[in-house]
This record gives sequence, structure tokens and C-alpha cells, in this order.
Amino acid sequence: MKSTFAGLDLGTGEFADQVRSSLADIEDLLLSELSSGDEILTEAATHLAKAGGKRFRPMFAVLASHFGPEPGNRDVITSATVLEMTHLATLYHDDVMDEAPLRRGAQSANARWSNSVAILAGDFLFARASHLVSTLGPDAVRIIADTFAELVTGQMRETVGARGADPVEHYLRVVWEKTGSLIASAGRFGAMSAGADETTTRTLTRLGDIIGTAFQVSDDIIDIASVTGDSGKTPGTDLREGVHTLPVIYALDGAATDCRLRELLVDATTGTPRAVTDDAEVDEALHLLVDSDGMVAARAKLQEMADEAAALLATLPAGEANDAFTSLVRYTVDRIG
Ligand code: IPE
Ligand code: IPE
Ligand code: MG
Ligand code: MG
Repeated sequence: MKSTFAGLDLGTGEFADQVRSSLADIEDLLLSELSSGDEILTEAATHLAKAGGKRFRPMFAVLASHFGPEPGNRDVITSATVLEMTHLATLYHDDVMDEAPLRRGAQSANARWSNSVAILAGDFLFARASHLVSTLGPDAVRIIADTFAELVTGQMRETVGARGADPVEHYLRVVWEKTGSLIASAGRFGAMSAGADETTTRTLTRLGDIIGTAFQVSDDIIDIASVTGDSGKTPGTDLREGVHTLPVIYALDGAATDCRLRELLVDATTGTPRAVTDDAEVDEALHLLVDSDGMVAARAKLQEMADEAAALLATLPAGEANDAFTSLVRYTVDRIG
């Protein structure tokens, strides 16, 4: 599935041209960095980048850079590329952990080759990202290192489960850590690299926190509601992994809960999430969830986050970059893939 952000409504004119040209520069740098190792690595290391992807984090960084005096300069291109490489590396590893067969509409690296190849390709991407970020200096290295640690903490927190904590609070913490933190860094790097002042940089980091968290909530809705062709991934992966996302948590909350849904998704002995392995059971659970109150409540929470992002955007200077972020927020709520 080839899908890029070329389709995001940027208007026409100089601003749109500048953004498109920055994204093209990022694409070139990304492919050349991923192809720079020994040839035995190149095919696996470039596999996912070539398969497609939305380039959401680079787009976020480039738009954020338009709030500084030097939008789209070399440091913006470099940092945005580092962010996409870091994201890509986590996708290689995430698909091993989730035993996911599809990614970006193509076979995942673990399905196409093996878990070992996917893990090593992900490691190589981290290595290249670390090398590239070092050219931006020690502050940039520290931000990426901290972000990566947050991301891994989120994946670990999801893996160990809520363990008696409030499930919604646990969920929101996980999604900020595993996804919001990297998109917040996109806002921070974009603004900082373009020379934006500290207040503006902080606001764009906060915008990334909110939109990034919302982005994962919509991903979790898509895991339940989409058909494979739209998302380029296999629906129901979270249920197969025994991960209860927001629609599920809400659906299981309250007395009126469908007993069958509980039977399918909760281990009767321990009361903890149950990994659903049977295909027919996954389908049944997805059907029950799609039209559930939990889905309605999760969509409402997503809209609440979008409203919070809009309020924050209203504190930043008006203009084309602000309008583009408004489109990005709408896209985050409405997207199907
Ligand atoms: C997938 O990210 C993993 C999440 C954090 C939800 P994207 O939805 O941005 O995936 P690509 O980059 O477009 O493939
Ligand atoms: C993992 O979340 C997000 C990452 C940090 C890679 P998911 O497991 O929901 O991501 P997808 O749906 O596989 O892209
Ligand atoms: Mg996954
Ligand atoms: Mg998902």
C-alpha cells in the first residue's frame, strides 16, 4: 500500500511547495541512510520504508518548523528523518512482538523472512538513526534517547498489563509513552531546529503529546473497525495479543456489558485480558465491538482530544501552518488507515 501524506490538504502555493519539497528531501535522506550498510542488510532494512507509510512524524516536524524563522532547514530534514527511522525500527520490533503478518500493506519483515531478520533490521535502523542524530549535537542525542526510553517503557507497560491499576489510566499512559512521546518529539525537533522560541517549542511539543496520543487511540479504533485493505495491517491484532485498548476497556465497563464479549475477552479465572487465538472468536469479538457503546465512548474520547488540540492551536499564530495542523487533527480523528 503506497500512501503518503501527499494527499493532506495543504492548499496551493509557496507553503505547500515548501512542505512537499521538505518531505521529498526527507525521503531521499531516509532511503540513502537505510541503504548505507553492508548489502546483506539493505533489502530487509529498506523493506518497510519502500512498502509505503504515511510519514506522519516527518510531516508533523515539518509543519512545526513553520512556526520558526527557518522552516525546513537542514536540521529540520535531518531530525525528521531520524524520527521516521526510529518509528520504522519500532515497527520491525513491534511486528515481532505482535506476531503481525502485514505492515504497510506488505508482508511484515518477520513474516517475509524471520523474527531474527526483523529484529536485526530494526536494530540496524536504530544504529543508523543514532549515527544521524549525532550530527545534530548532544542535546538532540539526549532527546532521542529519552524518547526511545519512553517508547520502550510504554511497550513494556502494555506487555505487563494494568495489574490492578485503573485500566483507562493505564491505557492512556501507555499510548502517550509508546506513540505520543515520539510525535511530541517531532513537534519539539521541528520547532527547535527552525529556531522557534522556547514558548513556541513547548507549545508544539504539547501539541504532539495530544495529537500523538489521539493518533494511537484512532489506531486502536482502526484495529477493531477497519478492513485489512484500508489499514495495511491485520484487524484484531490487539485482541490476539490480549491487549485491551480503549474501545474494549469501555465496552467491558459497566453492568450492561455483553456477557459473550466478556467471555471472549476476559480470562474467567484471573479476570485479566485473554489472548484470543481462534479466528472465529476474533471475528465474533470484532463484530460485537464495532457496534458497541465502548466504541462510541472511545470515539467521544478521541474527539475530546481533538478539541484540546484545536484549543492549543488557537494559541499559536494563525496562518497556513496552523491551518495544516487543523487538517492533521481532523485526519487523526477521521482516518481509516
Ligand atoms: C503505526 O504508526 C504505529 C502506531 C504508533 C499507531 P503509523 O500509523 O504512523 O504507521 P505508518 O508509518 O503509516 O506505517
Ligand atoms: C505499537 O502499537 C506502536 C508502536 C510504538 C510501534 P500497535 O501495536 O497498536 O501498532 P500497530 O497497530 O501494530 O501499528
Ligand atoms: Mg502492533
Ligand atoms: Mg495497532
